[in-house]
Amino acid sequence: MRDDDYESTFGASMLEHEDAEPRNPTDNPTMGELISQRFSRRGLLKGALAVSAISATVGTLALETAAEAQAQGAKSAFSFKEVEVGVDADHHVAEGYEAQVLLRWGDPLTVDAPAFDPAKQSAEAQSKQFGYNNDFVGYVPMSGAADPSAHGLLFVNHEYTNPHLMFPGVVEMKDGKAVMKNATPERFAIEAMAHGATVAEIRKTGSEWALVRDSKYNRRITVATEMQLSGPVAGHERVQTKADASGRKVLGTLNNCSGALTPWGTFVSGEENFHGYFSGKLPEGHREEANYKRLAVPSSPYAWGRFEERFDLAREPNEANRFGWVVEVDPFDPNSVPKKRTALGRFKHEGADMIVARDGRVVAYLGDDERFDYVYKFVTAGRFDPNNRASNLELLDSGTLYVAKFAADGTHEWLPLVFGQGPLTAANGFQSQADVLIEARRAGDLLGATKMDRPEDLTPNPVTGRVYVMLTNNTSRKDDQVDSANPRAKNAFGHIIEIAEADGDHTATRGRWEILLKCGDPSVAEVGASFSTDTTKNGWFGMPDNAVVDSAGRLWVATDGNGIDVTGRTDGLWAVDTEGGARRTSKLFYRVPHGAEMCGPCFTPDDTTAFVAVQHPGDDGPDWPEFGRRSYYEDLSTRWPDFKPDMPVRPSVVAITKKGGGKIGV
Ligand code: FEO
Ligand code: CA
Ligand code: CA
Repeated sequence: MRDDDYESTFGASMLEHEDAEPRNPTDNPTMGELISQRFSRRGLLKGALAVSAISATVGTLALETAAEAQAQGAKSAFSFKEVEVGVDADHHVAEGYEAQVLLRWGDPLTVDAPAFDPAKQSAEAQSKQFGYNNDFVGYVPMSGAADPSAHGLLFVNHEYTNPHLMFPGVVEMKDGKAVMKNATPERFAIEAMAHGATVAEIRKTGSEWALVRDSKYNRRITVATEMQLSGPVAGHERVQTKADASGRKVLGTLNNCSGALTPWGTFVSGEENFHGYFSGKLPEGHREEANYKRLAVPSSPYAWGRFEERFDLAREPNEANRFGWVVEVDPFDPNSVPKKRTALGRFKHEGADMIVARDGRVVAYLGDDERFDYVYKFVTAGRFDPNNRASNLELLDSGTLYVAKFAADGTHEWLPLVFGQGPLTAANGFQSQADVLIEARRAGDLLGATKMDRPEDLTPNPVTGRVYVMLTNNTSRKDDQVDSANPRAKNAFGHIIEIAEADGDHTATRGRWEILLKCGDPSVAEVGASFSTDTTKNGWFGMPDNAVVDSAGRLWVATDGNGIDVTGRTDGLWAVDTEGGARRTSKLFYRVPHGAEMCGPCFTPDDTTAFVAVQHPGDDGPDWPEFGRRSYYEDLSTRWPDFKPDMPVRPSVVAITKKGGGKIGV
């Protein structure tokens, strides 16, 4: 979802990050303050420009890079002709590549699903069709597939809905202003079914990917799907409700943003802006008041409490504690009950990218997508066994959750969120580990974690061992939170941090960090962007969001929030060099149609296909002078991907391949 285009008339569809005030009430130093300190120190040393002086300031990562640069020259790891930036109604991929629309909102997934008919939508039909606003895309090969990169299961999140783009008759023009009508029960029911996730078996024949329509694996997960709360919070009184006295059985998942494939072939999905679905008021003096306030529960956009009692805080005060988790789904068992893994904490989860540490424990890197909120990681107690899938299936139920604290000297610490340790005691209102996990943000506040500029994906690179932290933007950061050496107050374009854990061990509680990229237009000095000088006018970007590392260890970054009024370009997928002399060089590979953000991305194991998700195409409108007005169902800025007058714009997953075959970007 986009951050800065919230309009009150479209409030119900613009759920994300609309809060005028950031949520984090504590005064831990912001990432910006720390970066400022580091860069001001670097500034003092500038005159000398001695490698030794710089390395003393910025640490080992840059030193290695400088050495590699000398050895390797400035050769990019990517080889493709980059796309020209711009804004129009269609998507564009680099020359020599094919972008095939694979799954569109409304596509029938199961044999008994009806064809998509936008004029005759129903909850029943939507529950068997591909959902709305695809976000995370993950691919896992079918076991025993002749070609593991040509036959697999795709897992796709459906984060939220845009009713003004989905249904006729939702928008009324009043005094020249587009106003969205409140949801009806029928519209609510369809939107609810359009949320969640999809599992789809797909197969490539020649260069064409297609859904295997009669697959037994094809499945929709929705807000009505039964799920299990597992881990330390399961059964706790704070997650017991009238409908579920056990505190273990939850219906559905909400606002599923990013996610990840686990090493054992399941998928995890992050429940992000779950606050926007709740309405009503907690009973006076209720124990969850502070907890909910820290997460902005309730927020008005969807207000599903009008339609289902459990989303009304007055009638069901505990339901909101049952959302904001990482959910695990086994795609190979179509009857499996998804599990909310409470050991990973409750906040506005972006994703949970995983890597197996040297000793076999599994580490999940987690972002909490809110201005001034935190970066976390989770280390399992048990070890991954590549030869025994069943033994891995409950690994995410026990382990240690940590929150990151970054220091100005280029080091960082991971602070454990463990009940009874440090300030996480009864004196501060925590009676158990369940309390710590339910209020992970408050635990992070008390531990003095570093306030970040909206953490999105955290992506470990299995080839280099480094971890990339996407910080998408934070326009709320005030001038007095940065110093003059680092003019990134109102951080509109975001940045990317590179982490190296101590001794390359992902379970380590310490490491070093530096900024890989400060994003934005490098030709505008005041922006302070740090792309390499080889980066062209098409190559720079703002608002990094999702990221993936391909099998060669190369970083690809998807963006959310570019636009003609902000950067003169749509969102897209950029290839970013991290190694050698080309470090910080970025190139545009694919761009989305007007109004969309870029989600996914994901590669097949052999890098011959890249799957990307085009989310909320056609949203916005006034920003694009050629259109110049609010885009809605009856008057759309684009009808991508069908371009038929009776077909609305449709969020879709796109499969990108090289013409004639071969690895992407090589
Ligand atoms: Fe749903 Fe953090 O983007
Ligand atoms: Ca996003
Ligand atoms: Ca995202």
